[in-house]
Amino acid sequence: MQFLPKTLLAATALAVLAAVPALAGPADDAIKARQACMKANGGAMGAMVPMIKGEKPYDAAVVTDALAKTEAACAGWAGWWGDDTQKGESAETWSKAEVWTDKAGFEAAGAAYGKAFGDLKATTDEAGFKAAFGAFGGTCKGCHEKFRRPKE
Ligand code: HEC
Repeated sequence: MQFLPKTLLAATALAVLAAVPALAGPADDAIKARQACMKANGGAMGAMVPMIKGEKPYDAAVVTDALAKTEAACAGWAGWWGDDTQKGESAETWSKAEVWTDKAGFEAAGAAYGKAFGDLKATTDEAGFKAAFGAFGGTCKGCHEKFRRPKE
């Protein structure tokens, strides 16, 4: 009687495999990297918005630092949106399908952000900073409205 023990063994092996959580893979890496980039963007907003609201004095060094951190965290952007990253192996993504069905639109939203980022980074005084900030903040919303699922 070989059949039964072998089947049992196989069943046991499968049960063990099923109990092991899915390992992180390349899609997870891309998803986590783009979320880290977005978190840096959120952090930069957290540093800059109080200056816009007048809750904190304008500080060029803080702006420069916030934007430099964002730039570093987002440096790999172009490599994080492959078709194979619409779903993670185990990481959850809040990117909408439109990122991949409207690639031109997504790229345009990214380009608008890139331009506004450059304009903001080029500012050196409070008046310039305040003038450039609105357009920069608007590009977050402009992309999120179409391409990001809200977190509940
Ligand atoms: C070109 C599109 C685009 C632009 C521009 C953009 N975002 Fe995002 N953002 C996304 C997408 C897509 C996600 C969802 C990422 C995912 O989960 O895969 C996201 C997610 C986020 C998150 C949640 C990150 C997490 O931990 O899951 C924050 C915070 C965020 N964005 C802030 C910002 C801010 C602030 C700006 C502007 C300064 C900005 N984003 C500009 C597309 C964009």
